[in-house]
Amino acid sequence: KLHSTFVEGDRWKYLTNGLKNTLIITFFAVILGMVLGFLIAIVRSSHDKTGKMKILNFFAKIYLTVIRGTPVMVQLLIIYYVIFASVRIDKMFVGILAFGLNSAAYVAEIVRSGIMSIDNGQFEAGASLGLNYRKTMFYIIMPQAFKNVLPALGNECIVLLKETSVAGYIALEDLTKGGDIIRSVTYEAFLPLIAVALIYLVIVMFMTYLVSRLERRLAKSDRG
Ligand code: ARG
Repeated sequence: KLHSTFVEGDRWKYLTNGLKNTLIITFFAVILGMVLGFLIAIVRSSHDKTGKMKILNFFAKIYLTVIRGTPVMVQLLIIYYVIFASVRIDKMFVGILAFGLNSAAYVAEIVRSGIMSIDNGQFEAGASLGLNYRKTMFYIIMPQAFKNVLPALGNECIVLLKETSVAGYIALEDLTKGGDIIRSVTYEAFLPLIAVALIYLVIVMFMTYLVSRLERRLAKSDRG
């Protein structure tokens, strides 16, 4: 389809449209990953602290093991060709789902380590204020843990953006696939692929700048 309709002047469209898809997938996968990741982290650490939530914790552990133990690319292929094999489904949706579910496992471990880094005295402080476990978690522990892991979550966004570059394996036209289509049609590899690399680089450098600015601001508010 693409090969027959490829017009020389449309080259940029493969990059701009690909970039648009890459950004959309990254954005929604980040949201899905954060929401699910936080929930899993809360289940995991609540089990650590109280011994409750046995069944949920059991499934959370299996989830983390399977997701982090297999390549995201294989997960993407399985979701598209196995789970949604018999239904027509938007590839963008599959991409968001695959990368979001994958990121959730990494977010969960980041947030869990953040919760574990909070001194046990903070839980005792909550109890001494008459707060139950849930309230202590939400009003005392999570705000501090969240602040501590913000830079790590920022880095997760950067990783996620780059991970989406395997989306082309389900013929999803992301930025990388867009550049590769130009390469395969024009037989010119250098320019399209270097352009793709530069676009990722600029976005990653910008995100890195945001994360480091955030780090500096957090350090300042610690001192103040
Ligand atoms: N590329 C590796 C994989 O396929 C690492 C994925 C890391 N993902 C993340 N969101 N931190 O499993």
